Amino acid sequence: MAAGEGTLRVDKHGMGFVVLTRGADHAATVYEHGAHVTSWVCGGEERLFMSAKAVWKPPKALRGGVPVCWPQFGDLGPCKAQHGFARNTKWTYVADASSETAAVFTLAHDPADPLQQDWPHPFQLRLEVSLQARGELRHRLTVDNTGPVAFEFTTALHTYFRTPDLPGTEVQGLRGLTYKDSLDGRAEKVDDEPAVTFGQEVDRIYLGVPPRVEMTGFTVHQEEGFADAIVWNPWVDKAKRMSDYGDEEYKQHICVESARCQTPVQLEPNSTWVGQQLLSIPPQHEGGGIGCVVS
Ligand code: BG6
Repeated sequence: MAAGEGTLRVDKHGMGFVVLTRGADHAATVYEHGAHVTSWVCGGEERLFMSAKAVWKPPKALRGGVPVCWPQFGDLGPCKAQHGFARNTKWTYVADASSETAAVFTLAHDPADPLQQDWPHPFQLRLEVSLQARGELRHRLTVDNTGPVAFEFTTALHTYFRTPDLPGTEVQGLRGLTYKDSLDGRAEKVDDEPAVTFGQEVDRIYLGVPPRVEMTGFTVHQEEGFADAIVWNPWVDKAKRMSDYGDEEYKQHICVESARCQTPVQLEPNSTWVGQQLLSIPPQHEGGGIGCVVS
């Protein structure tokens, strides 16, 4: 292991982060704040978008990368804060589990934390982020109900995929599915287009997606626990309304979010839910980096 890999470092803002590596061409950076992946390099290329205007000052969530939305996606839960509080909170890096290729972060209920004031239920979250043999990025989120009563939650891994060519970017495999259109009062519609394209604002919750969602340059594998997917691009007007986001940055990413929101997870006391996602790069997009193609 090279110096610094798998160990906690501190950035210029005083925020802790861990760098994972796999071979010469695959790497990921995970922050304690939000257990937030801010960089995923696969085949020598950065695959995630981070806004140049992201605010690196907790409790503000980082704009870009992979925010963890919990205990709710959007407004689908009891919290006043959009997307819950996990993305706004400093998690604990489990140093004992450190390795070059995986890092574990935990977050426990803290009734004294003002961010958790509208969430009364004891819980324990565990997020393992790991790099696989071909540089694939895996998120394994575990939720334990450590309290005496059942609770329900919604959740999403809000991945900002870097898109060098937004007009040429498509999400395939969603044709025929029902989605809730967040730009139309969450009206339920059926997608009858061959692919989702991005020539305007898109903000949809697709229900019951297949375990593999293909998009230009990426495959999203919902390996366990998730069921839905949000597809989002803010386009021109919303970009201007977001203070931590550049006016033109909507051209640089789309979000495809593995989620569980149509049917919230019901978690009994002493029970565990697992949500697992794997992100990979289709062979034609892998790039020429040494170490990228593993036989
Ligand atoms: C998406 C929502 O998941 O997140 C959008 O569908 C929302 O409606 C976007 O604008 C970003 O949310 P936030 O809270 O990070 O600005």
